Formats: sequence, structure tokens, C-alpha cells
Amino acid sequence: KKRIVSGVQPTGSIHLGNYLGAIKNWIALQNTYDTFFFIVDLHAITLPYDAQQLSKATRNTAAIYLACGVDTSKASVFVQSHVRAHVELMWLLSSATPIGWLNRMIQFKEKSRKAGDENVGVALLTYPVLMASDILLYQSDFVPVGEDQKQHLELTRELAERVNYLYGGRKWKKLGGRGGAIFKVPEPLIPPAGARVMSLTDGLSKMSKSAPSDQSRINLLDPKDVIANKIKRCKTDSFSGMEFDNPERPECNNLLSVYQLVSGKTKEEVAKECQDMNWGTFKSILTDALIDHLHPIQVRYEEIISDAAYLDRVLEEGATKAADIADATVNNVYQAMGFLRR
Ligand code: TYM
Repeated sequence: KKRIVSGVQPTGSIHLGNYLGAIKNWIALQNTYDTFFFIVDLHAITLPYDAQQLSKATRNTAAIYLACGVDTSKASVFVQSHVRAHVELMWLLSSATPIGWLNRMIQFKEKSRKAGDENVGVALLTYPVLMASDILLYQSDFVPVGEDQKQHLELTRELAERVNYLYGGRKWKKLGGRGGAIFKVPEPLIPPAGARVMSLTDGLSKMSKSAPSDQSRINLLDPKDVIANKIKRCKTDSFSGMEFDNPERPECNNLLSVYQLVSGKTKEEVAKECQDMNWGTFKSILTDALIDHLHPIQVRYEEIISDAAYLDRVLEEGATKAADIADATVNNVYQAMGFLRR
């Protein structure tokens, strides 16, 4: 079976972008692939954060995965920091990562500009190396993520190739010189719709956990009246009818895509259904579709989060299974890099 890994940071609240860009797609993939879904708590400390909230946020994020439909009889769900090999491999990989690659990362540039140099920990710069180790440890074939992770995936691929080249030489030859002896080179899986869900208050910027206004996003756990209110107040335009792909109407395109994904209809069906609607009518069907889609997730979430023993067991089993594979990879890397083994 081909293998898939992906994760979400336990920071802020999980929103519709995280769901439509990533988590919703995991659910479809777990039937066909060997899947590992982790909560990346180590990534969550790369910007100032609240230590008292981290463990709670980690549990909540795990419960969201399960509520969204991650099936633990098929997928392994675990907490990144519970599998020590993530940090270990990161150090080994960081020795092979040119600093220029990291300085070029868009997310690093944006986040560090916002925070200011004195507030930026070194970990924000090396963040993509940790992400690469999350992926390479499992010899993953595919990584389902939103559009904003594309550059990180590109770096992961380059790093895998570089380490294979630097340290995989002898092994490669034994295997027929086809490469990939140390790491498999993974590919991103970016969905055709939902890969970049935009803010409700500005159709040109992406929906994000860190945007100051909560009105800009739909959180997965928002109650019905909050969802209704956010859609009621979201940004619109003064065109008539609703249409996809008009560059002058980013908000319209974004909300039609959201409607498409939560209603389960095709793009063509939605285009036809909504072409003569005004904003008022469209907002009302969108609100209903969102609530219908999210309500069952919220009900399951409440059940799961109130059963602490169950959640602990899931995370324990997930970590055990993950550690088996991760330890084997990291041991192999130590070996390939010439370390004295005990
Ligand atoms: P994070 O926590 O920022 O986001 C989690 C997932 O949600 C996607 N996403 C979006 N998709 C569509 N529209 C949006 N507005 C939107 N906002 C976020 C992200 O693309 C991502 O798939 N570095 C990662 C976490 C990570 C990871 C990994 C992912 C760490 N290690 C290994 C995959 C594999 C991150 O910060 O995602």
C-alpha cells in the first residue's frame, strides 16, 4: 500500500480552510492508502504561544480529526512530540539543509516580518526541516495539504534527494542505482477545489487561524447562529448573479467553491443552480449547507472530547505504530551518515 501522511498545527481553532484544504480529503484517502495523521504540536511552538493551552489544543485537534471522519481502524492518529524520531531526524536533516533554502521560504518571510526579528525563534526558520522529517520518516508517497504548503513540500523533496545523493550512494548502487535508498521522494496532493479557501472579509487573502478578526473565518466548531451571522456579514460585491472564476469577483468564487464542497455537488451543478441568484438567496442556501455539513461533525466532536480514555488510547496506539516505522528510518539514517551505533 502507498503511504500518506499529513498534519495540522494545534494553534487557534481549526477552520473551514483546514478542513476543505486538508482534513476532508484525508477521509477519502484512508480507504485506499496506509495513512498517518498527526497533530504537529512541535510546530505550534515556533511562534509565541500559550504553554497552558498547548496540551488541551492538541487533544481538541485530535478529537476534530476523529469527528471529521478519520477512522482509527484504518488510519494512525498520533501526536508529533510522542514520536521522538521527528526531532532526531530533524537534527540530522538540518545538517544537510542549506540555510538559503530556509531563508527563501515565503511563510518564514511573512511570519518573521510580522513578528519582528527579536521575537522570532530559530525554530521558525528551521520549521520546514521538521516538516520534512515528519514526512520522510514514514517514507511517504503522498502528502495531502492545502496550496500554502506547496513550497514546504518542494523543500522536502529537494532535501530527500540531497540526502539520498550525499549519503545514499553505496546503497543506491546495491539497489541498482535507481535512487531513493534512504528516503522516498514524496509528492503533494493538492485538491482541485478547496486548496485555498479565502477569508470571508477579503476574497484576496486566505482564511487563516491567525487573522485577528474571527469574522474572517468559519471555525469547524462555530455554533449555528455564529455561522449564520458570519455569512450574513461576509464581503460581497454589486454584480448580479453568482459565477465562478471571475477575477473581479474573488468573494463570489470563493463562496461558490465552499458551497460546492459542503453540498457535495459538482462545480457545474453549482454554477447552474446559482447563476441567477442574488447574494441574499445564495447566502441563505450557503448557510444551510454549511450548518448541515458541520453539525454532525460538532455532535461527534462533543462525544469524543468527553471520552478522555478513548482519546488517550487512540493517541497511544497511533504513536506506537508510528514509532515503529519512524525509528527504523532514523536508525537507517544514522547508519548511512556514519554514526557509531550502540
Ligand atoms: P496548518 O496547521 O497551517 O494547516 C493545516 C492544513 O490546512 C491547510 N490550510 C488551508 N487549506 C485551504 N485553504 C486555507 N485557507 C488553508 N489554511 C490552511 C494547510 O495547507 C494544511 O494542509 N506546516 C503545516 C503542518 C505540517 C504538516 C507536516 C503538513 C507539519 N508537518 C507534514 C503535512 C505533512 C501547517 O502549518 O499546516
